[in-house]
Amino acid sequence: MRRFVGLMSGTSVDAVDAALVEIDEFDFGIRTGGFASLALDDALRDEFHALQASGPDELERAMRAGVALADRYADAVEALLAQSGLRPEQINAIGAHGQTVRHRPEQGYSIQLLNAARLAERCGIAVVHDLRAADIAAGGQGAPLVPAFHAQVFRSPLERRAIVNLGGIANVTLLPADCGSEEPVRGFDTGPANTLLDAWCRRHTGRAFDADGAWARSAAVHEALLARMLSDPYFSRPAPKSTGRDLFDSNWLQRAIDAACDRGDLGRRGDSAGAGSDVRVGSGGSDEPAAADVQATLVELTAVTVARACADYGAQAVYACGGGTRNAFLMERLAHRLAPTPLETTAVLRIDPQAVEAAAFAWLAAQRIDAKAANLTSVTGACGPRVLGAISDPRVSRS
Ligand SMILES: Nc1ncnc2c1ncn2[C@@H]1O[C@H](COP(=O)(O)OP(=O)(O)O)[C@@H](O)[C@H]1O
Ligand SMILES: [Mg+2]
Repeated sequence: MRRFVGLMSGTSVDAVDAALVEIDEFDFGIRTGGFASLALDDALRDEFHALQASGPDELERAMRAGVALADRYADAVEALLAQSGLRPEQINAIGAHGQTVRHRPEQGYSIQLLNAARLAERCGIAVVHDLRAADIAAGGQGAPLVPAFHAQVFRSPLERRAIVNLGGIANVTLLPADCGSEEPVRGFDTGPANTLLDAWCRRHTGRAFDADGAWARSAAVHEALLARMLSDPYFSRPAPKSTGRDLFDSNWLQRAIDAACDRGDLGRRGDSAGAGSDVRVGSGGSDEPAAADVQATLVELTAVTVARACADYGAQAVYACGGGTRNAFLMERLAHRLAPTPLETTAVLRIDPQAVEAAAFAWLAAQRIDAKAANLTSVTGACGPRVLGAISDPRVSRS
């Protein structure tokens, strides 16, 4: 049996997640083991947010942030190994995502900051990193990469499933029933989830996130704003597609709010969100939607866009993972939009929803070590299968 560690810090920039994955010698059994999550300190999180846009001394700052993240990643590996009672020699490799500060596949690159050699040196374990570049070089989006892992661990012989990751950005994996059908696995980023929820909540309440969605629950959906947000061409663009904070940032949200105000149709009930909506609608009449109503509208945006992707595919059941599964209100709104299609979390498929993304990067490390292609061309749009990732290996060959 071989063991791999996956390290993930996503667009929410909330924490470093570390997951242990065990793969049996025939590569059939994939088992997720322990999981550890270390919060990112405010200074580093703010710096990653700042590095999302060009600024003074940005090269130097990017390298320093990559060094700081390597140290945080190493702390997470140490915590995971201590908790699992394992030594570094018992880990075959680490798959480390790094922190995305640019995602521009159409321009030929996506930047995940991380000083991988430093991480490898500190842990004494080989590190697989820069996992998106090869797919982008082959004309793909370089994202999402997790659908290949989802297909390995979540595909059912009978059920047409959708796996939904509610991270900073939401992405779906669409898994046809595995009954000899030739239909490919599909997957794409549906749009924003926690990244805009967190930014808005932080700005208006000072809290890092809206715990359980309580603040959004207290408010009403602003239909004109929802319609304005849904009119962004990203949502109607066909897959393959992927996105990030390059598009869905606070400026995007502010532009949508401004546009909804200018149209003078604040609070008027629209039909943008489709039939069957029973959302409460803001009272209207003001120039600016109430801050809590914007939060409720952002929750609805995620619920609508994810549910559409699942419905268009004809999913028979939907399984969610990621930090957004802890947002009870978001899960309720998503369940409502999906009904009668059932919504569960991946816990019922025996993988902790918080650990799925990090586990996927452990599996990607295994694919790289075995020199196996790990991109799904039906997902990323690359012109062919590619081995993903570069390797930093501090272990000296003894042969
Ligand atoms: N109790 C909670 N209530 C509401 N939202 C939560 C809760 N716990 C976590 N979250 C959300 O989950 C996010 C982290 O999700 P995660 O899957 O790690 O995203 P990413 O992959 O982008 O880092 C947090 O930023 C927060 O928005
Ligand atoms: Mg996270």
